[in-house]
Amino acid sequence: MSDEIVHRVQPAWKKNALIDNDTYLKWYADSIKNPDKFWGKHGKRIDWFKPYTKVKNTSFTGKVSIKWFEDGLTNVSYNCIDRHLKKRGNQVAIIWEGDNPYDEKKVTYNELHEHVCRFANVLKKHGVKKGDRVTIYMPMILEAAYAMFACTRIGAIHSVVFGGFSPEALAGRIEDCKSHFVITADEGLRAGKHIPLKDNTDKAIEIAAKAGTKVEKVVVVRRTGAKIDWVEGRDVWHHEEAASVKPDCKPEKMKAEDPLFILYTSGSTGKPKGVLHTTGGYLVYVSMTHQYVFDYHDGDIYWCTADVGWVTGHSYILYGPLANGATTLMFEGVPNYPTPSRFWEVIDKHKVNIFYTAPTAIRALRGAGDEWVKKTSRKSLRILGSVGEPINPEAWEWYFNVVGEKKCPVVDTWWQTENGGILIAPLPGATDLKAGSATRPLFGVVPEIVDGDGNTIEGEGNGNLCIKEPWPGMMRTVFGDHERFIQTYFSTYKGKYFTGDGCRRDADGYYWITGRVDDVINVSGHRMGTAEVESALVAHDKVSEAAVVGYPHDIKGQGIYCYVTLSEGEKPSETLRKDLIAHVRKEIGAIATPDKIQFAPALPKTRSAKIMRRILRKIAEDDFGSLGDTSTLADPTVVDDLIENRQNKR
Ligand code: PRX
Repeated sequence: MSDEIVHRVQPAWKKNALIDNDTYLKWYADSIKNPDKFWGKHGKRIDWFKPYTKVKNTSFTGKVSIKWFEDGLTNVSYNCIDRHLKKRGNQVAIIWEGDNPYDEKKVTYNELHEHVCRFANVLKKHGVKKGDRVTIYMPMILEAAYAMFACTRIGAIHSVVFGGFSPEALAGRIEDCKSHFVITADEGLRAGKHIPLKDNTDKAIEIAAKAGTKVEKVVVVRRTGAKIDWVEGRDVWHHEEAASVKPDCKPEKMKAEDPLFILYTSGSTGKPKGVLHTTGGYLVYVSMTHQYVFDYHDGDIYWCTADVGWVTGHSYILYGPLANGATTLMFEGVPNYPTPSRFWEVIDKHKVNIFYTAPTAIRALRGAGDEWVKKTSRKSLRILGSVGEPINPEAWEWYFNVVGEKKCPVVDTWWQTENGGILIAPLPGATDLKAGSATRPLFGVVPEIVDGDGNTIEGEGNGNLCIKEPWPGMMRTVFGDHERFIQTYFSTYKGKYFTGDGCRRDADGYYWITGRVDDVINVSGHRMGTAEVESALVAHDKVSEAAVVGYPHDIKGQGIYCYVTLSEGEKPSETLRKDLIAHVRKEIGAIATPDKIQFAPALPKTRSAKIMRRILRKIAEDDFGSLGDTSTLADPTVVDDLIENRQNKR
């Protein structure tokens, strides 16, 4: 595109960079030509109790089977902690910055080792065994990290559920993976507000029990000291238990393909899927991408602002950075509390070199005004990263010019929960940047753009993004439902992993992600299935039908627009609108709060009763001049009412 802005690699970025452009090109070519050789070599970046002899054993057709390093034995907790102890026992592993700017803690690798071992022994004491699922529903506190590492140490499979989810959503996730153990805190704290995590957990356990899954033990971490209900025999305090067990715990020898964690994510249809990641390939991939995408050097202070409830928190707060022996920062709070200077103040306070955040935060802070940035120094910053949704060029330029003062490369990293780690991103010392483009594929990643009929588009073009070859960090299955895995990702385009994203490739071979092409929306970087919000709405007794679409939102990226048809005899009202909003929040959580609700006497349907979402999207965007062909609608007059009562009138 002619209006694109190119930022060439600056001499300073190249100076100490781990990878220059020639190296990128050579490694990339090697990784595609001979994946066995390439990954056989890079697989050694982690320690193995028993080295692998087989590297790649994968198929994207038939039953779809993905195995990497399959005969090797290793352990994630060992690689992220124990192997560093000799050289970096006294180095800070995690800097914790509390919600309150006066709260901070620093944990060395030696201390981390002891905390994780104790937590692992607590889990063992209460009956957690290798292969068991442990649900972690925690705020952003150190114990969340200890809990995750403790699971990996003993071979239990963690399923972290974001602390913003409702009891109903938590229950669904407990049930789906039949998790009999939950780790939580009395409360969470965000922007000074208390989040009743234990109370939510109690409710979720009741719901799950009715559906047949009994939670046997709940380990509770004390965060705020709030008064909570207690179930004798089921609930135990973490601090009491941790003090009662030994400070050492031998890491379990895990097969490379043993499950590491489940993370639930939304798709176009049905309930959230339990994305399953395994041990060896995942750790190799996240540690390698963390090192090269962020040009991570020994001694750097690295901060990813994600929550451990999302994949970014798994891969790039904990597993990738700690596998590399980094100092990683974990932040409990939010970007604008107490003031919109918070991020930049934290950067100055802890001398952060590498900073990784989401476009929604960048847009919100840009909106708050430059003075909040300019009053801080930010001189420690070297690299800026972005993840989670497309970053618009204006936000990119502001990040680069104002936050980074034109001195720090912005790495826009495209990837998904299913991918395990970053797939498309620039390398700071190698890749010229274009504002708004995730640029080029990383090692081993073969993107392919296909049109609606499945034809491959070569060179420049626009279409749906697939990945043609397996990479070590990718998901292996949907927990408990391999058929759904095949159907969701490998049936649209046979033999290829379909991402669900639209994408353009420009003349330089750069990739520009245009957003989801399915019924998934991205609200403030949180991924949501419109079907989930619809099913929450129709669960309300006054609703007969609902259709949910996304619409462009200045700060959130996308907002949630709901068309609701009421049951016979029910009348629209402001009270009911508020009631429906509260209902969705209760069913899913605050992240699913509808932005707009339009009461619609009827929805536009084809003669075969399929809702025409294309029309609903256009009306939500206030772009009804281009509705396209409406002649196939069963009742075209429905559209007039929808337009008349649209909620996004300009
Ligand atoms: O649409 C893409 C968008 O986020 C989706 C994946 O969401 P999730 O699994 O929650 O993972 C988010 C963090 C890895 C993708 O299908 N997305 C993520 N990163 C980018 C992006 N869209 C554009 N540019 C990105 N850098």
